[in-house]
Parts: sequence; structure tokens; C-alpha cells
Amino acid sequence: MLIRRARKSDLEAVLKIENSSFEAERFTRSQLLYLMTKARGLFLVLELEAKIAAYLSVLTHKKRHSLRIYSIAVDPAHRGMKLGQLLIEKTIAYATELQLPAISLEVSTRNSSAIALYTQNGFNTVEILKDYYGKGENALKMIKKL
Ligand SMILES: CC(C)(COP(=O)(O)OP(=O)(O)OC[C@H]1O[C@@H](n2cnc3c(N)ncnc32)[C@H](O)[C@@H]1OP(=O)(O)O)[C@@H](O)C(=O)NCCC(=O)NCCS
Repeated sequence: MLIRRARKSDLEAVLKIENSSFEAERFTRSQLLYLMTKARGLFLVLELEAKIAAYLSVLTHKKRHSLRIYSIAVDPAHRGMKLGQLLIEKTIAYATELQLPAISLEVSTRNSSAIALYTQNGFNTVEILKDYYGKGENALKMIKKL
């Protein structure tokens, strides 16, 4: 297993994971490319036997007051193998390295697996964001203080 920064050539594999992981609110190819190559933050891919099995996009705020988990997804064939957990641990290590005081994220109230993953890693709900993903699709804003 290898966790490394994404390269442009990973785009198709990342897009495949994106499309099999999210229904609405998916990133397009060009949005993913922007996140991988231009955004301020970190875009990691996790390789299993030389194939990309998961990705993580985190953004750093200009004023560096927090780190935001922008997206995380594991290929459906490789879920439940602690790969998501590993990527959250990488995120915490990265925020600690940058001496950032907190990590934030938004997650759909319907996404019980992701909420369990974040709760287990010390994230707390600080706000309910009504209609965040469209009408009737609420989100939780969660924060982990470091
Ligand atoms: C959420 C996601 C990233 C978890 O990745 P994963 O590699 O399957 O999860 P892990 O094996 O690392 O599990 C870690 C913890 O997550 C939670 N979890 C993962 N899958 C779960 C499930 N099906 N039901 C409930 N909790 C689950 C559990 O707390 C688990 O800890 P445990 O095994 O000690 O119970 C993955 O399900 C995914 O890619 N989902 C689609 C994309 C998505 O929703 N991303 C989050 C957007 S905010």
C-alpha cells in the first residue's frame, strides 16, 4: 500500500471513484483536476497493488486557521478495510505538522458511515446546515480541535 500526492495522470482513476461514491454533488473532471493540481492544500491518493483505491482532498485556508476535509472517497470494492481511517489519520498528521488548530468538514446527515468515521476520530457537530446539498438535504458541520 502506498499513500502519495496525486498526479495529473491519476485523474481518470480518481474520477471513477468519485462517480461510484457520490450521486448528487459530484465533482466533475475539471473540478477534480483543479483540486489535484492547483488548490491550496493536499490531494492524496492511496494505491493498493498499483491501483488507486481511495482519495482525499483537503484545503488549507488562506489565513491558515484551519484545514478543511473537502472530499474523501474509497472505491466501493475496498470499503471497510480501514482505508478511510488511514486517510483521516494522514489528515490529522498534516494539520498537526502545519500547527493548525482545527480540522473542519461538512457531511450529509444521511451519510451514517462517514459520520461514524468522523465521530470515531474526535470530530464534533457544531452546526446543522439546512438545505446544504439542496432542498431537504441537510449537512452537519463537524470540527476536530487539535
Ligand atoms: C465514508 C468512507 C470514506 C469510509 O471509508 P472506509 O475505508 O470504508 O471506512 P473504514 O474501513 O476506514 O472504517 C472506519 C470507520 O468508519 C465507519 N464506517 C465505515 N463504514 C461504515 C459502515 N458501512 N457503516 C457504519 N460505519 C462505517 C466506522 O466507524 C468505521 O470504524 P469501525 O470499523 O471501527 O467500526 C467510505 O464509506 C466512502 O468512500 N463512502 C462514499 C464517499 C463518502 O461518503 N465520503 C464522505 C463524504 S463527507
